[in-house]
Amino acid sequence: MIRMKYIVAMFIIILIVLQFFQPEKTNPATDSSLSLEEQTEISPHIAKLIGRACRDCHTNDTVWPLHSYIAPISWLVDYEGNYEPPMAWVLLDATCEQIMLGKMPPKRYLVVHPEAKLADTEKEAICGWAMEEKKNYE
Ligand code: HEC
Repeated sequence: MIRMKYIVAMFIIILIVLQFFQPEKTNPATDSSLSLEEQTEISPHIAKLIGRACRDCHTNDTVWPLHSYIAPISWLVDYEGNYEPPMAWVLLDATCEQIMLGKMPPKRYLVVHPEAKLADTEKEAICGWAMEEKKNYE
């Protein structure tokens, strides 16, 4: 029994030490002139869908939930990534592709954010918008 207690104690100590290793969680200021609303013709419906499914990672308005503070779960939270947006055309094209392939929003994000899941009709709506906007850059 003493051994069991020892193992549990070690486990708890390790968990506590892990908490000191946290990813950076900052929300830098946003330049609103670069928003989708400013840069594209976007209906409130599409803006809302994108807000629901993509905002946490692709804007600086990330909502950091409690689990994003608890290691080791927090290590799975790479909301910002090292992601530099490419040109608008490529981005709009990739948006449709990533959504249709089911790669965005990422599956492990959907596990804890089921509200971000997009129905097929919603995917098609975003895709239709992206394809229409893409024409402006051709
Ligand atoms: C959990 C965070 C997260 C969410 C939610 C998310 N993304 Fe991403 N996205 C990323 C990261 C990180 C990358 C860059 C690394 C990668 O390719 O995995 C990325 C990359 C992309 C790319 C570029 C892919 C390429 O071809 O290089 C597009 C386009 C994209 N996301 C669109 C979306 C759209 C549209 C949504 C909402 C429907 C969305 N993402 C939701 C984290 C996220």
